Amino acid sequence: MNPLLHLRLMTEGDLPFADSLRAVVGWNQKPHDWQRLLAYEPQGCFVAEWNGSPVGTATTTRYANEVAWIGMLLVHPDHRGRGVGRALLERCLQSLRGTRCIKLDATPLGKELYVKLGFQAEWPLTRWETQCLDVHGDSPALAAEAGGQSPAAAGPLETVCHPASSTFQGGLRLRPWKVTDASRIEPLDSGVFGVPRTRMLELLATQSSNAIVSTDEAGRVNGYGLLRQGSRAFYLGPVAASSSEAGVTLIRTLVHQVKGHPVFWDIPDANQAAVSLVKELGFTPQRPLLRMFIGNNEHPGNQERYYALADPSIG
Ligand SMILES: CC(C)(COP(=O)(O)OP(=O)(O)OC[C@H]1O[C@@H](n2cnc3c(N)ncnc32)[C@H](O)[C@@H]1OP(=O)(O)O)[C@@H](O)C(=O)NCCC(=O)NCCS
Repeated sequence: MNPLLHLRLMTEGDLPFADSLRAVVGWNQKPHDWQRLLAYEPQGCFVAEWNGSPVGTATTTRYANEVAWIGMLLVHPDHRGRGVGRALLERCLQSLRGTRCIKLDATPLGKELYVKLGFQAEWPLTRWETQCLDVHGDSPALAAEAGGQSPAAAGPLETVCHPASSTFQGGLRLRPWKVTDASRIEPLDSGVFGVPRTRMLELLATQSSNAIVSTDEAGRVNGYGLLRQGSRAFYLGPVAASSSEAGVTLIRTLVHQVKGHPVFWDIPDANQAAVSLVKELGFTPQRPLLRMFIGNNEHPGNQERYYALADPSIG
């Protein structure tokens, strides 16, 4: 490793730098995303320094010892091509030793590096965007304070707004997210995502401006969806559902809360119901991403029931 390059653990004090680097590359996360990543994995988030100044970041997120994610791999444009990205990635892999499968959602720039370190392609996905969401029809009967604010203008955590009451859409009952729901949805979510991630869902729900659960007539959970603020657009996800009817209804309900605002939405290309809906709602593709893995991919999940990712940095 170049003697000018030094890697160390990320601390709370690094978050302003980390978020400024995120802004340089134009990604959509906010400080609360960094805070969540660091709170979840304080021994697994890293900063690269070049000659004593911070120039790069990377995070890891472990789901038991089965699967882990590498995310937020960022190197300042002035310091690229010097081995900083490779060193950060190697440090992440070292800290995740013992994990059966390590995954990430690669940008085209990152893919070149990951292939060199042995990552294989799993499946493609696409980041879709709309600058002004235009949805027609009656607004579902859910409270929606966050829809009146732009993501940039609203504060990070104080705008938590969950639906005030239940509503019926066809045979589905939509209701507000409850604090116990991360555990209740675990059987559904782990089948879709691949492994349980209850604690991460609890944290994401706390940071979401809208969070809803759908159940069938017998009260069985058949889907859930979250939506939170980003720095450039509202971020739709994660959304998982056991039927396309539930997935589509959850998404229509969530996006109704933010009509008129920019929204980003990451969708596995294989989820045809979500791809049809995103086109119908007038989104356009922003960039391709590629889910990649290294190790033993024993728990791939079900991309056809994954309607919206949680974030490319955590799956
Ligand atoms: C991707 C990124 C982190 C790479 O950082 P970096 O410090 O420039 O990477 P390195 O200098 O360590 O290069 C690592 C290897 O990847 C190769 N590589 C890096 N970028 C490449 C590119 N655009 N095309 C081809 N190869 C590339 C290098 O040749 C190098 O190979 P080597 O180690 O065999 O010599 C950086 O470009 C970046 O921050 N991009 C924007 C954010 C992003 O897309 N991050 C990835 C998220 S998945």
